[in-house]
Amino acid sequence: MSILFVNASQNPTGNTHQFGQRFLSGHDYQEVALSQYKVYQLGQDYPDDQFSVIYDQLLAADQIILGTPVYWHTISAYLKVLMERVSQMPVEKVKALAGKQVYLLVQGADPSDTIGPATKLVSRFCKVLGLDFVGAATPNKKFTKLQQKL
Ligand SMILES: Cc1cc2nc3c(=O)[nH]c(=O)nc-3n(C[C@H](O)[C@H](O)[C@H](O)COP(=O)(O)O)c2cc1C
Repeated sequence: MSILFVNASQNPTGNTHQFGQRFLSGHDYQEVALSQYKVYQLGQDYPDDQFSVIYDQLLAADQIILGTPVYWHTISAYLKVLMERVSQMPVEKVKALAGKQVYLLVQGADPSDTIGPATKLVSRFCKVLGLDFVGAATPNKKFTKLQQKL
């Protein structure tokens, strides 16, 4: 099983990265920090867009761990843009991701009001796209139960 940790924080080595490390300890995995790539918003068409680099990594993974900091009571814009871009790909490219397992890690100063809505958002995204949403966790919540599903 190949695992990809998608770090949707502005900080490649910050708290979200560290939560991912804790969650995935003992597993081999690749990490991609979205802040290091140019993934433009829907409707922006620039020649240096790097969405396809991220897509190829998603495609190569069996399990996708989405790690997001809480920004203004929701997921980061990095993750939101990625979700929007994935959902608007040609249908064959969306279908190629079907069945992959998705986990959500929510890192925040106090993520307690965000974990519920963020889980709803990402699980709905997975349902529409045919991905297999496994569950979500915060660092404060006991996450070992979710970890055991890896
Ligand atoms: C723009 C911005 C908005 C934030 N809004 C929230 C928030 O609404 N709720 C919360 O719990 N933390 C909020 N935080 C705090 C971060 O989620 C928290 O510091 C997190 O650990 C940062 O992770 P990082 O080190 O990966 O960047 C915010 C941080 C920033 C930069």
